[in-house]
Formats: sequence, structure tokens, C-alpha cells
Amino acid sequence: MTRPIDRPDPNRPPPPVDMDAVRARIRELAPRIEPIHGWCAPDAGAALYQLARLVAPTSTVVELGSWKGRSTAWLAAGLADRGDGRVVAVDTFAGSANEAGHAELLQGQGPDHLFREFEANMTGLGLAGRIEPWRMTTLEAARRWDRGVSIGLLHIDADHDYPGVRADFEFWSPFVVPGGLIVFDDVPTFVGPSRLVGELPRWYRYFGAMPNKWVVVKE
Ligand SMILES: C[S@@+](CC[C@H](N)C(=O)[O-])C[C@H]1O[C@@H](n2cnc3c(N)ncnc32)[C@H](O)[C@@H]1O
Repeated sequence: MTRPIDRPDPNRPPPPVDMDAVRARIRELAPRIEPIHGWCAPDAGAALYQLARLVAPTSTVVELGSWKGRSTAWLAAGLADRGDGRVVAVDTFAGSANEAGHAELLQGQGPDHLFREFEANMTGLGLAGRIEPWRMTTLEAARRWDRGVSIGLLHIDADHDYPGVRADFEFWSPFVVPGGLIVFDDVPTFVGPSRLVGELPRWYRYFGAMPNKWVVVKE
């Protein structure tokens, strides 16, 4: 029986990835994204880009904790080059309550400062169309999430205290599709996420590590 030409053959291997082109694109993106203030190291950003573009099984990406959008930009660029999808960027845009450094960085700024910078940065990179900012707490966002929408990649980088990161994992991991990825930030530098990744149920399999991030795949 012949197969309609618009229906892909499920047994055919995916087209090979042109890694030279991926590398060239990362080299082009890095100097544009790195000036955004944030904590995502260049190698980690490049890895987020590749995971969003090439590995995540669905093109819905959720980021918990975006600050001024450095890691958001890498993820959104990955989706833009994939040609599909969006990053839901969940942040109060008020800084983390338990990180004194955030309060210092925001001292003297109005309540909209961080959000405005985030928006300006994403617009400046031409990525705003791939990003939906949800300005609220991570748990409020989880309560509003449409459970019919499967997340292909979840980046957890908001509250780094153990109870906070654990709540983020518990509220959000049910929405991650089997085969989907969860990236934990600040492993091993922060105690909270580092403890949590050691406690995950075994159906969250180790996928890999990148500079200060730990990646698991949901079976
Ligand atoms: C470490 S920063 C994120 C850094 C960013 N991903 C980067 O790569 O530069 C953590 C962010 O999480 C946000 N945040 C902390 N706790 C939160 C919560 N419970 N709900 C929503 N956002 C939160 C803060 O406002 C802050 O912008």
C-alpha cells in the first residue's frame, strides 16, 4: 500500500542533524545573549539551546525562574530554529525572596523594572514571539496550567531552597510528557536542588550534566 506523501514513515530514521550548522548558530547567538545579565553560563546556554531544538519531544518549554531572560533566550532560540513551539517563562519578576543578592541588584528599582528588562531583552533579540511570560509565582502558574498540554522540557531555576525546588518539581513534573526532560539549575552549587536530584524516583533517569545543571528524562 502506498503512503500519502504528507504522512511520514514512522520507521524512517530522522534526518541527520547538521552539527556544523548547529555549532555555527551557537557561535552566532552567544555574543548576543551573553550581555543579558543572569546566571546561565555560556556552555549551559548552548546545551539548553540544543535540548530545546533537537531533543525535547514536544516543543512546549516551561522555565521556572527567568530573571532578565538569559536562559530563556537560549531556549527560545532553540525553538525558533526548530520552527515550532513556545517558552512559558514563569517568574514573579520580583527576585527570589531568599536570595539577598537579588534584593541588592534590584535596590532602588521600581516593581516593574525586572519585567520591563526581560521584555526589552527578548524583543531586542527578536524572540518575543516565542515567549509567553507568566508574571506570577510558580505554584500559581502550575494551578493555571492546562493539563492537556504536555511539556517537552522543564527548566527549574526559581526558588533554590529545598522546600521551594521540591514544590516546583512536585507541582510541575506531572505535566512533563514521558520522554520529556527536566533540567535542574544549580546542581551541585546549591544544597536544595542537589539534595532533590538525589531523591528523585527512579523513573526520572539521569540524562546528563552540564555546567551547574542536572538533566533527567521522565520514563
Ligand atoms: C536565579 S534567577 C533565574 C536566572 C535565569 N534563569 C538565568 O539563567 O539568568 C531566579 C528567578 O526566579 C524567580 N523566582 C524565585 N522564586 C519564585 C517563585 N516562587 N515564583 C516565581 N518566580 C520565582 C526570581 O524572581 C528570579 O528572577
